[in-house]
Amino acid sequence: NHPPASILFIFGGSGDLNHRKLTPALYNLFLDDWLPEQFLISGIGRSQYDDESFRGHLLDGVKQFSRRKEEINGKWEAFSRHIAYLQMDGDKAEDYQKIARIVHDKTEEWGVRPHVVFYLAVAPQLVPAIASNLGKLDICADKTTSRIVVEKPFGHDLKSARELNTQLRSLFAEEQIFRIDHYLGKETVQNILMMRFANALFEPIWNRNYIDHIQITAIESVGVEGRGGYFEQSGALRDMVQNHILQILCMIAMEAPVSFEANEIRNKNLDVLNALRRYTDAEVAENAVRGQYGAGSNNGKPVLAYRDEKGVAADSNVETYAAARFFIDNWRWQGVPFFVRTGKSLHMKETHVVIQFKSPPHNTFPHEAAENWKSNRLTISIQPNMDIRIRFQVKRPGQTMKLDPVEMAFDYTAAGENAPEAYETLLLDALEGDPTLFMRGDQVEAAWEVIMPILSHWEKNKAADFPNYQPGSWGPLAADQLIEEEDRHWVNVL
Ligand code: BG6
Repeated sequence: NHPPASILFIFGGSGDLNHRKLTPALYNLFLDDWLPEQFLISGIGRSQYDDESFRGHLLDGVKQFSRRKEEINGKWEAFSRHIAYLQMDGDKAEDYQKIARIVHDKTEEWGVRPHVVFYLAVAPQLVPAIASNLGKLDICADKTTSRIVVEKPFGHDLKSARELNTQLRSLFAEEQIFRIDHYLGKETVQNILMMRFANALFEPIWNRNYIDHIQITAIESVGVEGRGGYFEQSGALRDMVQNHILQILCMIAMEAPVSFEANEIRNKNLDVLNALRRYTDAEVAENAVRGQYGAGSNNGKPVLAYRDEKGVAADSNVETYAAARFFIDNWRWQGVPFFVRTGKSLHMKETHVVIQFKSPPHNTFPHEAAENWKSNRLTISIQPNMDIRIRFQVKRPGQTMKLDPVEMAFDYTAAGENAPEAYETLLLDALEGDPTLFMRGDQVEAAWEVIMPILSHWEKNKAADFPNYQPGSWGPLAADQLIEEEDRHWVNVL
């Protein structure tokens, strides 16, 4: 089953995202025979390329970034015949006739009107002009055969996200707008829903009666790596929490969908975002922690202080680390804290979710038998480890009455070797017109509503203690205190 004959126009075609992620993902889809025969990738940019040199540039990206570098020989040639370059200026309305012409020519050549997907892999400030020019093209009037894919960041705050939604909806129908959150394309993130709702085992205990708290960790060892200019406008909360972390939280917390239909999943996801507590200014101080890294070293390599990075202000107030305690004010989750944390230049790259269950209602065994009665824990590792682990207590072999925590594990890597990357899944869905793993406009706005009080509080109150954590560490002390206040601890999966 292939997607219909299609043309994928990539604005920002000569840029980094296409080089690192999009073309390598498309090439893998090609190797796995997911692409239709009648398929064109038209990279759009201002840079000077012809088709040949553009293909060479993309091949270089595939060689560096594909998960299957060894399979390049032989197949690339066939794949690259589907690639062309279109030099044009996204600001110039008249240049858009070049797009119309390509669609017209391909329709003649293929004998069928192709679906068209416009992928905007460009800086956010360029999106409105491109969208507005595209909206004027006749091909975009057909809701079922044309769509537009918008990369993050979707807006800079609630107000700008609303404005962007209003603009896009004035040009396209909601079902034509595909807002990317690449975490939703990750195998292990999708698997959260499968695990929860394809089993009868977990759901009865998946609530406030049995769960003590939940942790979501998405940390990175890399620093801002030359993206200082972008990061100054963003910060960790906008970069990771507004989108990726809140989306994982929704998957963990949502009610059971009736079907795997796009709007059903998205409605259930939106219910969670709507129930997430909006903090008052005073509550932000109690529930959110920020950090910024200073100079030091990580994994043996020297690390510049964030404030010394190119494009970063010497007194920057921007956070490179964020942690928060969220509450979901609904029936299932009342009183259960959701602790989340993310940051750059930390000890390691690691994304995981911990479901910490409560202690047994009564300790039958002498207190000394177990070190920690809260040992029932489910850990869902998203990356780079891809596994699910259940921790429980058993008797330590021998004459003494001692309990030991043990783990039962399912290794996703072993089961799904060479699993597709997020962009492979999302590009295929965009070509097929399946929006399940993309954000609807109301979800994006609700996610902004959740983090706006924290953003405003942090903007108004400068951080007096920046820099407050060392590269290679687990983040600022205040983040440990946030969770330890209640005799809970961050779980570090090593
Ligand atoms: C992006 C952020 O959305 O996600 C980056 O802008 C971050 O700052 C990246 O590094 C992390 O993605 P992944 O897939 O490597 O976890």
